[in-house]
Amino acid sequence: MSKRAAILGAGYYAPEKVLTNKDIEKFLDTNDEWITSMTGMKERHLSEKGQPTSDLAVKAAENALKNSGVKKEEIDMVLVATVTGDYVWPSTANVVVNKLGINGVPSVDLSAACSGFLYGLTSARAFIESGIYKKILLIGAEEFTKVCDWTDRKTCVLFGDGAGAVVIGEAQNEEQGILSTYLGSDGSKVSYLMQPGGGTANPLSQEVLDKKMQFVYMEGKEVFKQAVIKMTASMEIAMEKAGVTAEQVDYFIFHQANKRIIDSIAQRFLVPEEKLIINIHKYANTSAATIPIALAEAMEEGKIKKGHLLGFSALGAGFTWGGAIVRI
Ligand code: UT7
Repeated sequence: MSKRAAILGAGYYAPEKVLTNKDIEKFLDTNDEWITSMTGMKERHLSEKGQPTSDLAVKAAENALKNSGVKKEEIDMVLVATVTGDYVWPSTANVVVNKLGINGVPSVDLSAACSGFLYGLTSARAFIESGIYKKILLIGAEEFTKVCDWTDRKTCVLFGDGAGAVVIGEAQNEEQGILSTYLGSDGSKVSYLMQPGGGTANPLSQEVLDKKMQFVYMEGKEVFKQAVIKMTASMEIAMEKAGVTAEQVDYFIFHQANKRIIDSIAQRFLVPEEKLIINIHKYANTSAATIPIALAEAMEEGKIKKGHLLGFSALGAGFTWGGAIVRI
C-alpha cells in the first residue's frame, strides 16, 4: 500500500473565561433571543490580556500529543492555521515550536481564515504521503475576540477564542486515513469579510484607527449565502472523491459559523441531527479552530471513535473553502 496520511489523535483548549449572550446584553444593544435564534450561539470563551493565540495553540497541541500517544520529539513539522496570530509576523507556528521546546522543527502559519484547518489538513496530507515528513502537528488557533469591535453588534457576538490540534502521520491500518480533500478559493470577494487595517493596503495610522479598520468587517448576508453554497459543494465533492455517500458518513463536522448554515447543509444531504457534531452554542465561531475543537471534544466524549467515517467542510474569508473525508 502506498503511504496514506491519517489523523492519529486530537486535542483542544479554550480559555477559562466565558461570556454568555446575557453578559453581552449588559453592554450592547442585543439580546439572547436574537443571538440564539439567528446563530445558535449561547456563549463563547475569551482569552485574557497577555494570553496570546500561541498559548491556546500550545495547550491544544499538548493535548493532541497526549491523546495520540506521540512524543513531541517525534514531530517533524508544525503548521498553525490562524489569521489572528500573536504578531503580524513572524508566524505563530514559530512561537509555538519554541514554547513546545522543539526548536529546529520547521514551522509555518496557513492563512485561510475559517477554512485554514482544511488547508492545513491537505498540506499535512501531502507532506506525509510524499514521504517528506512522518509526523505533523496541525493546529487551528484563533483569538477573534481581540480583533472585534465590541460596539458592533453585527460582528462581535459571533466570535470566540480557542484552539484545536491534530497529529497527522501514516495510517496504522488499511481502513484509517484521510480519504479525500478538496480546496477552492475566489479572491473577487475579499471585501465581504476581512480585517482591512494593519496590512500593507491600509497600514496602521490614526485614520485607519478612527475608521475602525483594525477590526473585523463582514457583510453577513452575502457570507451566509456563500457559506451554504460552498460548504455544501465542498462536502459533495469530498464525498465523491472518496467514493462514499452521506449515509455512510458517521458524523459531519461543518465549520461552526451559524447553526442555520449547518442545518441548511445537513438538509441538502438529508443528514439527521444526530449525525452532526455541533458545539457552536458553547464556543461560537472560533474560525480555523472550529473543526479541530469539535473533533477533539467529540473524541474525548467518546462520541467519535476509531473506525468512524467523518465529513468536514468549511468556508472562510477570501473566500476560501474546502472539504474532507476522514476515517479515524
Ligand atoms: O466564519 C466565516 C463565516 N461567517 C459566517 O458564515 C457568518 C454568516 N452570516 C450570518 O451568520 C448572518 O448574516 C448573521 C447572523 C451575522 C446576521 O443575520 P442576517 O439575517 O444576515 O441579519 P442582518 O445582518 O441583515 O440583520 C438583521 C437585523 C438588522 O436590523 P434591521 O436593519 O432589520 O432593523 C440588524 O441591525 O438584525 C439586526 N441585528 C441585530 N439585532 C440584535 C444584527 N445584529 C444584531 C444583534 N442583536 N447582535
